[in-house]
Amino acid sequence: MKRAIYPGSFDPITFGHLDIITRASKLCDELIVGVLNNKQKNPLFSIDERVSMIKELTENLDNVRVECFEGLLVDFAKEKDAQVIIRGLRAVTDFENEIQLAHANRVQYPQLETIFMTTSLKYAYLSSTVVKEFASYGGDISLFVPAQVIPLIEAKINNKEK
Ligand code: PNS
Repeated sequence: MKRAIYPGSFDPITFGHLDIITRASKLCDELIVGVLNNKQKNPLFSIDERVSMIKELTENLDNVRVECFEGLLVDFAKEKDAQVIIRGLRAVTDFENEIQLAHANRVQYPQLETIFMTTSLKYAYLSSTVVKEFASYGGDISLFVPAQVIPLIEAKINNKEK
């Protein structure tokens, strides 16, 4: 049983994340989307909102589960008996952070492999930050996130501005 974790903040989930989830789910028996509950950050969406959004958007993928985690990724991987971490690479600028994270995780837990997947070219520019930036200025985010997520983002941004 090959169990992989695709970890991230997913604040919010984008087409780029969904592309990686779909492709990664074909490479393992079970894929856990691990949503980080990072208490130091001030996310737009609560952990429950992020988890429930991703669950809804991945319900067509039978071997994908969505779970939140706190603390270290290596501890979450041990707890879930996962052997693989999946991370998406968009550009060389991602590489520096990602290789550091992968090495640090590997030093801590050598049995855990990190596999980098290149994002699809059409999402190579896309990040949750880009989505929030466009949304905050009333921009069109329909090319960035699924249609059902758009009103949720707009509601959050409008609420924040009040
Ligand atoms: O989507 P993101 O914010 O780029 O995801 C980053 C994430 C969640 C993969 C990373 O911050 C992480 O694994 N955090 C958990 C804490 C941890 O294990 N840190 C290791 C630091 S070297």
